[in-house]
Amino acid sequence: MKERTLSIIKPDGVAKGLIGEVLNRFEHAGFQVVAMKMVHMSKKQAEGFYAVHRERPFFESVTDFMSSGPSVVMVLEAENVISRNRELMGATNYKEAAEGTIRREFAMDIEKNVVHGSDSPETAAFEIGYFFNALELVRL
Ligand code: CMP
Repeated sequence: MKERTLSIIKPDGVAKGLIGEVLNRFEHAGFQVVAMKMVHMSKKQAEGFYAVHRERPFFESVTDFMSSGPSVVMVLEAENVISRNRELMGATNYKEAAEGTIRREFAMDIEKNVVHGSDSPETAAFEIGYFFNALELVRL
């Protein structure tokens, strides 16, 4: 079944010139981009996005980082795109990420890990709605 996921090229990925590299990998995987924009999140917007992590020790730091510069946010559509995108990204901790994954190749630490991807259909619905309204999602 076709599904959708939210992907973010984080401020470290944008700063390192990895927008094209990451998009290339998504397109090669057959993911279709149904919405995309560049955003420089405020601290409050980053806190809202990562609200599920509010109690975690890294919350303060990750929301500072995510509001430190522009990100590219996009919605990807494909069969099983949530898990396939997570495979392309690799583990959150780049040291545990499989060879050839985006994070293994480009991440600098567990926080500055280049990309974000939704981890379930429920999270994807929340995250897509956080950045895009229905008119901004194209019909394929
Ligand atoms: P992401 O997949 O966007 O989800 C939460 C983010 O918090 C994660 O990627 C990292 O950028 C950051 N983070 C920092 N430290 C940790 C940690 N110990 N565990 C999980 N995520 C972390």
